[in-house]
Amino acid sequence: MEKYSIKTAALSKQYNDQAVVKNVSMTVPKGKIYGLLGRNGAGKTTIMKILLGLATASSGECQLFGQSPKEHPEVYSRIGNIIETPSFYPYLSGPDNLKVFSKLKGQTQRNSVDKALKLVDLNHVDHKRFANYSLGMKQRLGIANALMNDPELLILDEPTNGLDPIGIAEIRQLLKELAEVHGKTILISSHQLSEIEQIADIIGILHNGELLEECDMSQIAQHNQRHISITVSDVHQATRLLEENLHMSNYQVEEGNTIKLFDFTFEPQEINHLFGKNGIEVSSLFIGSSNLEEHFRTITGGVGIA
Ligand SMILES: Nc1ncnc2c1ncn2[C@@H]1O[C@H](COP(=O)(O)OP(=O)(O)OP(=O)(O)O)[C@@H](O)[C@H]1O
Ligand SMILES: [Mg+2]
Repeated sequence: MEKYSIKTAALSKQYNDQAVVKNVSMTVPKGKIYGLLGRNGAGKTTIMKILLGLATASSGECQLFGQSPKEHPEVYSRIGNIIETPSFYPYLSGPDNLKVFSKLKGQTQRNSVDKALKLVDLNHVDHKRFANYSLGMKQRLGIANALMNDPELLILDEPTNGLDPIGIAEIRQLLKELAEVHGKTILISSHQLSEIEQIADIIGILHNGELLEECDMSQIAQHNQRHISITVSDVHQATRLLEENLHMSNYQVEEGNTIKLFDFTFEPQEINHLFGKNGIEVSSLFIGSSNLEEHFRTITGGVGIA
C-alpha cells in the first residue's frame, strides 16, 4: 500500500517569463489533511491544477498514489476536486446538478448523488433551485460534487471562501469527519492562517511560488506553546536541578544552552533563585508565547501570511 497520496519533486511552472511555482517538493500522506497556506498569488491554485492535470508543469514530477499520472491517467478518477468556484446550473436543483455532472464525468456508481449529499448534510429530496441556495449550501454542493464516486483524495481550493465563521466551522467539521471517519486524504488551500491551523495535520507554506516549510501541525503547536526560556551557563546541572528540586520534566533543551520550560508551576524568580544558589549563571530568562502568525512572519521574511 502506498503511504503517500501525493508526492511532487521539484515541480515548477512558468507563465510567459514569470516563474509562479518554483521547485516545489511536497508530500501528502494518505489519510491526512494537508493545508497549503499562502497569500494571494502564491501559486496554490496553479499547484492544484498541475496535480489534477488541468495545467502542465514546466519541469519537475508529480506522483499520485505512487504512480505518474502521465503514464496512468486513470488515477484522476480517484480524486475529487474543487478548483476555484464550481459552476452549477442555476435553474436546476442541487441533486439534479450532481446528476448532470456525474453523467458528464462518466461516473457510474449507484446512489452516488444521494450518498454525496448525505455526507455534506444537504437534503437529497430538496428541489430548491441552485440559484436560491445560500452560499454555505452552494459550497456544500461543491464538496458533494467533489465527493461523487467516492474518491480517496480530495483537492479543495479554498473551499470556505466567502463563508461566515459558522459556515467555516461547519465545513471544517465536515472535512475532519471525511478524513477521520471516512479515511479520505485532503489537500486544502487557504490564505487564512486560523483556518488551516484548526484543520490541518500537516502544513505547507507557499510564498512567491516556493514551498518554504512543510511540517507537522503538532510540531508547530509545541514550538509555539507558552513557555519560559532560560539561557544558563550549565544546561546539564540546570536540568538536573529542575527535575530533582522542582520536579519539572516538561522541558526541551535548545541550542545555545537554552532550556524551554513548558510548566508554569513555579514563578520564574524561583527558578532564577534556585539556579543562583547553585552557582548557575542565568544570562537570559523570559516568558515566550510566539504564535503561529509570528512564526510565519519570520519564515516568509517579515511579510506574514494574510
Ligand atoms: N493562466 C495564467 N496565465 C498567466 N499567469 C497566470 C495564470 N494563472 C496564474 N497565473 C499567475 O500565477 C501566479 C500564481 O497564481 P495562483 O492562482 O496559482 O495563486 P494563488 O495562490 O491560488 O492565489 P489566490 O489566493 O489569489 O487564489 C499569479 O501571479 C498569477 O497571476
Ligand atoms: Mg487560488
